[in-house]
Amino acid sequence: MPHPAIVKDNVAVITGGASGIGFAAALAFARDGMKVCIADVDQARLAEAAIRLSSVTSATDVMTFAIDVSKAESVTELERAVRERFGRTDILMNNAGIQPGSTLFGEPDNWQRIIGVNMWGIINGSRIFAPNMIARGGAGLIINTGSKQGITTPPGDPAYNVSKAGVKAFTEALQHELRNTAGCRITAHLLIPGFVFTGLTAKGRTEKPAGAWTAEQTVDFMLTRLEAGDFYILCPDNDVPRALDEKRMLWAARDIVENRPPLSRWHPDHADAFAKFVKGD
Ligand SMILES: NC(=O)c1ccc[n+]([C@@H]2O[C@H](COP(=O)([O-])OP(=O)(O)OC[C@H]3O[C@@H](n4cnc5c(N)ncnc54)[C@H](O)[C@@H]3O)[C@@H](O)[C@H]2O)c1
Repeated sequence: MPHPAIVKDNVAVITGGASGIGFAAALAFARDGMKVCIADVDQARLAEAAIRLSSVTSATDVMTFAIDVSKAESVTELERAVRERFGRTDILMNNAGIQPGSTLFGEPDNWQRIIGVNMWGIINGSRIFAPNMIARGGAGLIINTGSKQGITTPPGDPAYNVSKAGVKAFTEALQHELRNTAGCRITAHLLIPGFVFTGLTAKGRTEKPAGAWTAEQTVDFMLTRLEAGDFYILCPDNDVPRALDEKRMLWAARDIVENRPPLSRWHPDHADAFAKFVKGD
């Protein structure tokens, strides 16, 4: 049984919906007969994506919206435009994201932009859409795209890690709020993709690296786990099985419990212990 929100004529809004994981989700929802609104900052990609969506559903069931999700007023306009066109929103997938790279003492504008899109985009979307979704009383979903980097926070891209750690904390609080709201049939979910071959990770490559999943595989996995009712949708990829992710996450949590230095997984004094922990010794 698919999730009760994923049914014909229901309405899905997907930010960052013009490419990658967001577009694969839009395609899957459209194939299920849903009306879809893809919202994205890239207008050319939006137009191409709308043409591709029209090949699986009626063009009247496809809406595009040019937006920068970091701007609350634009997200407010999106919510209103979707209500005017389709009457309501049943599924909101806050998925727009960027990963241009960052350094700890690098340009403040770069930090602002990454946190603006990745974290504020999700906060804006959830806060602006949820009240009307709840008020309607129907079953619905808010899916926020996080990252393993927001949980294990590996060295190398601190602004991205901070933004995605914020997505995790916000989405956990959102689900707590929703489940304690009387009559609310909306649930929040944290999508945690593995390595997925998309524009974000291609870095000039035209062929999918063996270790990566496709965006379609990721969305198929997401739909299965939504059906099962998971909050944390922890996706594997071809290199990293769930068991390894679990070990990495447990190790990160134990840095606090065992009073180790932060990011001890990458600390020379702890590297051997981490390797043993992963092997199960
Ligand atoms: N690809 C991976 O391996 C991977 C892993 C973990 C998490 N993620 C997350 O998945 C999400 C989707 O990324 P993807 O891999 O499909 O990449 P992608 O680049 O194919 O898709 C991201 C989309 O977001 C859009 N976007 C960027 N800034 C925006 C803004 N300000 N407002 C609206 N739209 C904007 C882009 O134009 C693009 O269409 C992101 O949040 C990303 O951080 C991806």
